[in-house]
Amino acid sequence: MLGRETSATLQERAAEEKELRKPTPANELGPFYKKRAPETAMLRAAGDPGMPLSVSGQVLDTRGEKLPNVVVEVWQTDHLGHYDLDGYRYRAKLPADSSGNYKFESVMPGHYPDRVCQHIHYLVTAPGHKPLVTQLYFATDPVFEGDPDKNFNRDPLIHSRELVRPVMLVGDPKDIHAAVNFELCLERA
Ligand SMILES: [Fe+2]
Repeated sequence: MLGRETSATLQERAAEEKELRKPTPANELGPFYKKRAPETAMLRAAGDPGMPLSVSGQVLDTRGEKLPNVVVEVWQTDHLGHYDLDGYRYRAKLPADSSGNYKFESVMPGHYPDRVCQHIHYLVTAPGHKPLVTQLYFATDPVFEGDPDKNFNRDPLIHSRELVRPVMLVGDPKDIHAAVNFELCLERA
């Protein structure tokens, strides 16, 4: 039988050798970020037009450990592709979650003339880790014509297929909404 120390050493070594996760690819910050967004997970107001959208995910480090004390900021257009430049509609700093999970409620963003694809911007920070600036895209975007593997780079800003996420339609027929999972992996500073 292995002594306790030996066993601990082996565990450490196993952790070191554990296959590293790749950090989530970065993507442009863009010109529409605003500081001091309100802390909320509900970006959608009652009666807002557009397809309701729930986004959730985990924030991990490159070893696959969940990161507590993460700050996730998101911003996007409304369903018609307009950013709120005067106020803070569809902009939020998500409430901190000690378990490394995040979740928010919104609507599917629209297209706008300067960008090819629908997207949500992210700025993610955690103590001891490099800030991550990225964007989430949707496999259902009509620009991809049903084939994001082939067509993801129709938007010249999408350098990585993994930023294009599957969209599930959930709920009953009278209350359908879109749900997306987007895992975020941060690199140590
Ligand atoms: Fe944008």
